[in-house]
Amino acid sequence: MKQLVGLFGHPIGHSLSPVMHNTQYERLQIPYTYHAFDVEPDRLKEAVEAIRALRLRGVNVTVPHKVDVMDYLDDIEEEAKQIGAVNTIVNDDGMLKGYNTDGRGYLLSLTERIGDDLSDKHVLVVGAGGAARAVAVSLSRHGIGQLTIANRTVTKAEVLVDLCQGWQSTEAKTIEQSEKCMDEYDIIIQTTSVGMSPNTNEQPMSLQGIRPGVLVSDLIYNPLKTKWLQEADNLGAEVLDGVGMFVYQGALAIEYWTGEKPDTKLMRQQVIESLG
Ligand code: ATR
Repeated sequence: MKQLVGLFGHPIGHSLSPVMHNTQYERLQIPYTYHAFDVEPDRLKEAVEAIRALRLRGVNVTVPHKVDVMDYLDDIEEEAKQIGAVNTIVNDDGMLKGYNTDGRGYLLSLTERIGDDLSDKHVLVVGAGGAARAVAVSLSRHGIGQLTIANRTVTKAEVLVDLCQGWQSTEAKTIEQSEKCMDEYDIIIQTTSVGMSPNTNEQPMSLQGIRPGVLVSDLIYNPLKTKWLQEADNLGAEVLDGVGMFVYQGALAIEYWTGEKPDTKLMRQQVIESLG
């Protein structure tokens, strides 16, 4: 009999996860099947109880449940606690443990491109919402040289800076302040939804002044290459789209549930095809 895994979100109509996961389960020839469950916010507790009752092996959790779901779990890994959100639940004989694979997924897509040692890099994270929290926390746990967080609302950037205090120097800025010193950054990561389809003409900040060869990364993957990434490309930067983070957060969940390592290159190809 197949083991059931899936996704809790609301709404979940547009999710690319079911196809991405099910293709890997077929390829790996393992008896798992992934289903997207539309869970209304006021039914989240019941839905989590159903993981135990129906013996699901685990679920991914997406908007708007990533924070609230933490109240209903038996255990939560350290990194997810620090981020303050869970995107993956593993069910071990009724014991539900929460993980966050978003930040680690992003880190894998980044280090695959530029190598594992980020200890001399000055990283600018643009935005201070949920996605920024995952990325900034994972980066600071991995070890980077310096971290700057720039956000429209600077008080939110300050909260995230406090969360990421480690051995690296960390600072909060407004978008305008960071735009004045773009030549300081080695890696620039855009975590807001500005520029996402259908508002593809919007850009979160100017990239004027960046050094050629720096890495500019946008977590958005629809469109695959945002207008902002196109500008980065024109300015001579290396660019990294958001598909990698989506693929690796899913690949880590597959490993946790099944113990198998999926083919992330195929996953990437498939996501790009699904995006059209
Ligand atoms: P997510 O979970 O996708 O990160 P979020 O938690 O709602 O979403 O965070 C949204 C982020 O995008 C925030 O950093 C937000 O800036 P504010 O904190 O100032 O609201 C940023 N953002 C959203 N729309 C924006 C816009 N039009 N211009 C600049 N920043 C924007």
